[in-house]
Order: sequence, then C-alpha cells, then structure tokens
Amino acid sequence: MNPRMEIWQDRYSKRFARGGAFFVFEGIDGSGKTTQARLLADRLEALGLTALRTAEPSDGPVGRLIRSASTRPGPHEEARLFAKDRNYHVEQIIIPALRRGVTVISDRYLYSSVAYQGARGVAIKEILSLNSGFLVKPDIIFLLLAPVETALARIKSERTEGYSQFEAVDYLRAVDRIYRSLDDPLICPVSGEGPADLVHERVFAALRERGLLDLLSNQ
Ligand code: TYD
Repeated sequence: MNPRMEIWQDRYSKRFARGGAFFVFEGIDGSGKTTQARLLADRLEALGLTALRTAEPSDGPVGRLIRSASTRPGPHEEARLFAKDRNYHVEQIIIPALRRGVTVISDRYLYSSVAYQGARGVAIKEILSLNSGFLVKPDIIFLLLAPVETALARIKSERTEGYSQFEAVDYLRAVDRIYRSLDDPLICPVSGEGPADLVHERVFAALRERGLLDLLSNQ
C-alpha cells in the first residue's frame, strides 16, 4: 500500500520558518512507542536540545472527546474525529514548537488513522482526504514492530475492555498488517523486540544513519 502520494506535499509547499525537527513514532498498541518516545526525548535533552513529547489523540477538545467517549463511533465518524484532533494538534502544538526550534516527538500521527481506521474498513483515500491541507511532514517516522502476541501480552489488562479477546486480537492483526504494508521512504521500521534500551539504540542509530543528528546539531 502506498499512501504517501501528495499527502506530505501540501503543507510542505507552504513552508514556514521551521527550526525544530519532527519525529514520529508509530506502531500497534503495546509496541513500545511511548517508552521509546520518552527515551529519545531524554537522550536529546541530555545532548542539550529541547524536545517536546506529544501524542495523539491530543489533549485538545476533540482528543478529550475521543478519549472520554463511552461507545466507539462508527469507522467513518471515528476517522473524521481523529483528523479533526490532528488538525488541532498540528496547528496548536506541533507548529508553534517547531517554530521555536524545539524538536517535536509525536506518539502517533497520520499513519495511526491509516492503520486503525483502515482496519475498520475506511478507504485510505477517504482517510488521506480528511487529513489533507494541514499536515506537517515529519523528518522520520519510526515504525516499531513487535509480534501481535508480544504486544497483546504487554497490554493485556487494559486494552481488551469492551471487546472479546478474539475481536481485539483480530483487530490488532489487521492494524499490524496495514502498518507493515505501508510504503513511504519516511518510514523507518525498527524492531521493538528486546529490552527498551536496546530498541532505543536502534532508534538512535537510525537517526544517525539518516543524517538527522546533523540536522539537530545545526539547530
Ligand atoms: P494510544 O497511543 O494507545 O494512547 P494511550 O496513551 O491512551 O495508550 O492511542 C489510543 C488509541 O487510539 C489506540 O488504540 C489507537 C487509536 N488511534 C486511532 O484509532 N486512530 C488514530 O488516528 C490515532 C491517533 C489513534
């Protein structure tokens, strides 16, 4: 699946004075994104850089609505809500930080919608169209890969509420399949297996290999 198309272009063409770098972590629930986002932010801070860790769904009005909803909306409505929240997140949190020269590390971004709402049957075209016109292009998207069984074991207690175990496994497998099928040069697949420190070293090595540490040191 190749969703990259022009999606990263529209905002990019409206260049704004951008000081900071923008890194994204993606992956299924339990893949370790949140831990890795924290470890990377700590590492960058230790190097004397300012890093902002942020996440989707955001703490904005729509993000709070998504988190607090007692019943899950239909797939199309859900895709619309996540896009609306992302628009807020980009305009209110990400862009202002990048303008200040802060390195932004986001736990989830566009491809969460592609994978999670895609797995509920929403066409990728529809998701991209809902998300068009406001996206900032990341410098790299780390895709943390862990077997669905490993991820489920990590989240077992919290994430299966409201779903039968079977449905949760099935859904996560579908999400995982979409993530693994994404074809975008910005995506850097990283094995999420093993101790968190080791995974972090893989992440940091990838930044170095892609020349992104030089980008940071020029900030
Ligand atoms: P998650 O990163 O797991 O947040 P938490 O900090 O609460 O663990 O995200 C919550 C859920 O939202 C997760 O199951 C994936 C889902 N999600 C989507 O379905 N679509 C999206 O666009 C995003 C950003 C998240």
